[in-house]
Amino acid sequence: MGTLELRGIDKVYRSRGKPAVHAVRALDMDVRKGEIVALLGSSGCGKTSTLRMIAGFESVSSGSIALNGRRIDHLAPAQRKVAMAFEGYSLYPPLTVRENIAFALKSRQLSRAEIARRVGAIAQLVEIDDILESFPRSISGGQQQRASLAPWCGMPIFICSTSRWGSSSRSSARSCAVGSRASWRSAK
Ligand SMILES: Nc1ncnc2c1ncn2[C@@H]1O[C@H](COP(=O)(O)OP(=O)(O)OP(=O)(O)O)[C@@H](O)[C@H]1O
Ligand SMILES: [Mg+2]
Repeated sequence: MGTLELRGIDKVYRSRGKPAVHAVRALDMDVRKGEIVALLGSSGCGKTSTLRMIAGFESVSSGSIALNGRRIDHLAPAQRKVAMAFEGYSLYPPLTVRENIAFALKSRQLSRAEIARRVGAIAQLVEIDDILESFPRSISGGQQQRASLAPWCGMPIFICSTSRWGSSSRSSARSCAVGSRASWRSAK
């Protein structure tokens, strides 16, 4: 059985006074534990809509989404155990990389000592342990990407939503793979 199962997913956006947009049509997709999957397609074909439905930021118009055999499409985003890294890097400029990661981890009600331990372990996994005391403006795009993904390592499903990787450097694509692999490893 696939870890994540999408069955017959449709997404129709309806706004008053505008024609309905059928963004996703009859999508079936399985993602098994440990797989890294990329959605590729022309602009407007429904990639971001699909990711947002998995994360819970958009409702499905019809169909079902299940994680380990349990329906999640009716659950609020926070109840799904799905992490989504958005296209922006979402780092706070006045905080160091270490402080940024720790700040994001604070929302999980961990002790100070546990946060400090996790920051160190995750930073090693995504290869940013040498820039933990740097500020976001003084590190590269790929490092910013890894720093913003770092707090979400360990979530059962880890979604990176971006259009930039398609046209950007190899190192950014590698950042994505490193972050995702690290996430899967620590999710075991
Ligand atoms: N909130 C919305 N309301 C109405 N239509 C929307 C909304 N969000 C997306 N759409 C439309 O749904 C379709 C799919 O959009 P989506 O963002 O999923 O595409 P995408 O594959 O991610 O494209 P891109 O590669 O350009 O990011 C597009 O026609 C888009 O205009
Ligand atoms: Mg998109």
